[in-house]
Amino acid sequence: MKGKFVTFEGCEGVGKSKQIHLLEEYLKANGIKYFLTREPGGTPVSEQIRKVILDGSNTSMTDECEAMLYASARIQLLKEEIKPRLERGELVLCDRYIDSSFAYQAFARGLGEEFVANINSFAIQNFEPDCTLFLNLSPKEAFKRKGGVDKNDRLELSGFDFHERVYKGYLTLAEKNPHRIVSIDASGSKEQTHAKIISALKDKGII
Ligand code: TYD
Repeated sequence: MKGKFVTFEGCEGVGKSKQIHLLEEYLKANGIKYFLTREPGGTPVSEQIRKVILDGSNTSMTDECEAMLYASARIQLLKEEIKPRLERGELVLCDRYIDSSFAYQAFARGLGEEFVANINSFAIQNFEPDCTLFLNLSPKEAFKRKGGVDKNDRLELSGFDFHERVYKGYLTLAEKNPHRIVSIDASGSKEQTHAKIISALKDKGII
């Protein structure tokens, strides 16, 4: 692919949205063109799937169904937006991607890596980002900073243990994929974290 594909990962409340916003400002100020999207979502079909997944009233949804809905939203986004843009040489930024499925569904929900790898390899044929920025902050610190949970979000209601498992999942993924995943210490100020992100993207030759 001619373009570059960068994904953002991390537990809830680590400041991912803020950091993406700061990166956008940096790219605009430096005249670097980019396309920003998010998972689950980013296309009309994937946004509808997102509503089903995150709807707090869907309490009967099985873990397997949830994992497959994420993979469905992903393949739609990949085919409709990400791949065509990368083929045209664009820089594509995505708020969450497949590592979220490993951290949340495989590790935290307990579906296991094999199940998640199987449904995703079927959907996306192991298509990997060039660089994944993992905002590394423990759920304890993140929740302290955020000041509590959003009561309308099914996933945020999953409890503290769940988020601890998500975090451990991310640490495992970062260890297993050092060629792609950069662990960014997100415990400092937003400016410090932003500076680390810029330097990681420069080191990887992305910007
Ligand atoms: P969102 O409100 O976008 O959360 P955030 O701002 O933290 O990214 O909701 C996305 C939720 O979906 C988030 O809790 C992580 C979860 N998720 C998975 O469990 N598996 C996945 O594959 C993806 C992409 C997201």
